[in-house]
Amino acid sequence: MKNIAVVGTGYVGLVTGVCLADLGHHVICIDVDEEKVSHMRKGYSPIYEPQLEGLMKKNIEEGRLTFTTNHAWGIPNMDVIFLAVGTPQQQDGSADLTYVQRAVNDIAQHINRDVIVVNKSTVPVGTNESIQQYFNQHVGELGRVDVVSNPEFLREGSAVYDMFHGDRIIIGAENEGAALLVEELYRRLKLPVVKTDIRSAEMIKYASNAFLATKISFINEISSICEKVGANIEDVAYGMGKDRRIGTQFLQAGIGYGGSCFPKDTNALVQIAGNVEHKFDLLESVIHVNNRQQVLLVKKAKERFGSLHGKRVAMLGLAFKPKTDDIRESASVVVANELIQEGAYVTAYDPIAMPNASKVLNVEFANSTAEALQDADAALIITEWDEFKQLPLSTFSEQMRVPMVFDGRNCYTLEAIQESYLEYHSIGRPVIGEVDLHKFEYTQNYLSEHG
Ligand code: UDX
Repeated sequence: MKNIAVVGTGYVGLVTGVCLADLGHHVICIDVDEEKVSHMRKGYSPIYEPQLEGLMKKNIEEGRLTFTTNHAWGIPNMDVIFLAVGTPQQQDGSADLTYVQRAVNDIAQHINRDVIVVNKSTVPVGTNESIQQYFNQHVGELGRVDVVSNPEFLREGSAVYDMFHGDRIIIGAENEGAALLVEELYRRLKLPVVKTDIRSAEMIKYASNAFLATKISFINEISSICEKVGANIEDVAYGMGKDRRIGTQFLQAGIGYGGSCFPKDTNALVQIAGNVEHKFDLLESVIHVNNRQQVLLVKKAKERFGSLHGKRVAMLGLAFKPKTDDIRESASVVVANELIQEGAYVTAYDPIAMPNASKVLNVEFANSTAEALQDADAALIITEWDEFKQLPLSTFSEQMRVPMVFDGRNCYTLEAIQESYLEYHSIGRPVIGEVDLHKFEYTQNYLSEHG
């Protein structure tokens, strides 16, 4: 078992550190944020992630997991140092490497022996070679540093599961011994290992995310055509996915992909290609389709009502996908801002993402789905939480002023909708039901005139 430091306790770093401790290694997680570190020392996770807190507490108690803000304490005498800091998107779409540079500098100052630095941060092709050069120049006689690229493929909401049951482990290294040692760290997982050079490992990460994003934009394009030609996207995706060369996953049509990876990594890959004078037309289209998809529900609602000015709109779901409180690059942010711009009154509800959303969205927040739907003229479903999927459809008709639903995640079967009193617009499927808007307009006018 090895002594491991993990620099950066964001999503990737914390999950990696906790899971490596659970595999039996001794792990010190290092972060610059004092408050966060003291919180984590007590076994509290700063992010919502199933299973994570339980594993944190267990491994802290069993003495394999510690947290510190002090590089001078955490870095010396380690066998392996994981680098897991953020690489946010810059204005031009390229990855911002400020945190990586700072972390590499901190690590270099405290290395006192031979060590392997494993980079989990998503970085442009060639970055790990530059990091290697930096260590060669700055660590000197004290020790030899071997940089290994080991990209992560964790999904938020199932990151712990993915760490233990991933499809593959990618190890990019120049030094065979370093690659073997990193492989050894994960041996107990018994997962397939792909060993390659550093540049290819860096590329595997970007290409994988870009390909998955392409699958999503492709199915979303097909869904738009389905709506026009009268086909049903659910059956089309199912029929396509049965071909094992295509596969059933990532063919769920909706209002586009969000989150901390796909939007950032697709933009970064376009930049990486551009830097070597390759215009990545296909990926640019994928991004364009996704941007269009995120505003689709607002466009449909606007077309249906003529104008959204003064309409009460309920937004169900704010997280970029279920089982997470993350709203980064979520369609909800674009949708809320568009609705406000159109002059609508927006009330939103999400089972867990409201605290995060309240920092960036200027809308009203409800305490429940029913409260959000109360007296609404339209409901927009943004995230496919089970809570919404399992909702009795009568809740919409009972609570809303106009029972009009725009479902961005195809939460309900058309059969179930047919038995309800809703007008239902979904993605890539026919519109069901048609409410008489004049009747509702009359009621609204009557109510506003007679109190
Ligand atoms: C993704 C990758 O899956 C993971 O391997 C990588 O390391 C980080 O990025 P994550 O962002 O957590 O993980 O979420 P994921 O489950 O992949 O979903 C991303 C987005 O795509 C979500 O907004 C989701 O709603 C959307 N999506 C996904 C679809 O619209 N349709 C699908 O069929 C699948």
